[in-house]
Amino acid sequence: MGGLPHALFPVFLNQTQLIATMEWSPDLMKKLEALRSKIEQTGQDFETYVNGWQLQRFQNYWDYIQLDTLLSLQRPVTQVEDEPIFIIYHQITELYFKLARIEIDAIAKNEANTVADFTERIHRINRYFGALRGSFGVMELGMKKEEFLAFRDALAPASGFQSVQYRIIELGCAPLINIVSESRREELADASIEDQMEGIYWKNGATREDNGKPAYTATQFMDKYWDDLLFTAEAYEHCNIWVRFQELKTKASDDERRQLEDALRALDLNINVNWPLQHYKTAVRYLSKKPTDIPATGGTNWQKYLPPRFQRRIFFPELWTAEQKAEWGKSWVHEVLAELES
Ligand code: HEM
Repeated sequence: MGGLPHALFPVFLNQTQLIATMEWSPDLMKKLEALRSKIEQTGQDFETYVNGWQLQRFQNYWDYIQLDTLLSLQRPVTQVEDEPIFIIYHQITELYFKLARIEIDAIAKNEANTVADFTERIHRINRYFGALRGSFGVMELGMKKEEFLAFRDALAPASGFQSVQYRIIELGCAPLINIVSESRREELADASIEDQMEGIYWKNGATREDNGKPAYTATQFMDKYWDDLLFTAEAYEHCNIWVRFQELKTKASDDERRQLEDALRALDLNINVNWPLQHYKTAVRYLSKKPTDIPATGGTNWQKYLPPRFQRRIFFPELWTAEQKAEWGKSWVHEVLAELES
């Protein structure tokens, strides 16, 4: 190689020689050693991995976030122009629900949450529901009413009522008894999880306006998910957000405890008042005010079923005064109704 120009050397070197001529900082060497030891500790060969990495393609944005798949998931069932808006916004909501579930599960799985971690995770869920509430105008105002009414019949009996993630979030937040229908809470207070699930508000609430029997949308949902939801309820019984808060509050200072309680109150309002009312307001805009006007695709008694002041779901009743509980969802409803009447 004697007579060759210096700059060309690497071209003629084999791989090992090339590596030998490069500068490896002690820090990088340490990292490589750690990597090798991690792989060799499992009885695998480091060099096999190095060979594999050499062959791997570089990441790109579209594969990493699965863009093509994501954009292929909107399948309208009609040719009505506004239908994709309805589908996409439901999908966006389900993704936010998934984000919320990630936080709930992180809290549930951790037997040693810190106050800071726990509060931060509840704040995250609050931000997700805040974003959903703030963006609900995409539904409420973003479709032509006549277009919505034109494609909705083609969706029956599908309904957001069948969102299993919404039900899982509830089970992950509160003791099951708090989401049992109010009228059965006393009777089922000491019952098994299985019996309390029989009294869960949505199983009893979603009935037909005409004859009071369970709406088919609910029957269809239970056929698909009942066993999974029972399993989920049992899994969260000893590690839902309320249980984890009880464990934490004994270790928290007065100030920390106040912060925790504020975050949980905001969560209760977000999930049980703010989002449901925004949703209800939207249902009213499209389906009008009187039950006789336009039935929902799920075919339920939605005007009696949806408003929070009727359902009175409260995840954490211990954190509210008797007066606040008695007024649950009311001022908001008055506000919404006044707006609608004007
Ligand atoms: C134009 C937009 C919407 C209308 C008119 C509407 C209407 C309704 C109605 C009438 C119900 C009662 C069940 C039934 O009879 O179908 C319901 C339930 C529900 N919808 Fe929607 N909805 C809309 C958008 C959404 C969106 C974007 C979501 C997000 C996933 C959603 C999620 C839910 C949930 C979770 C329930 C069950 C609530 C509960 O059990 O308290 N809805 N919806």
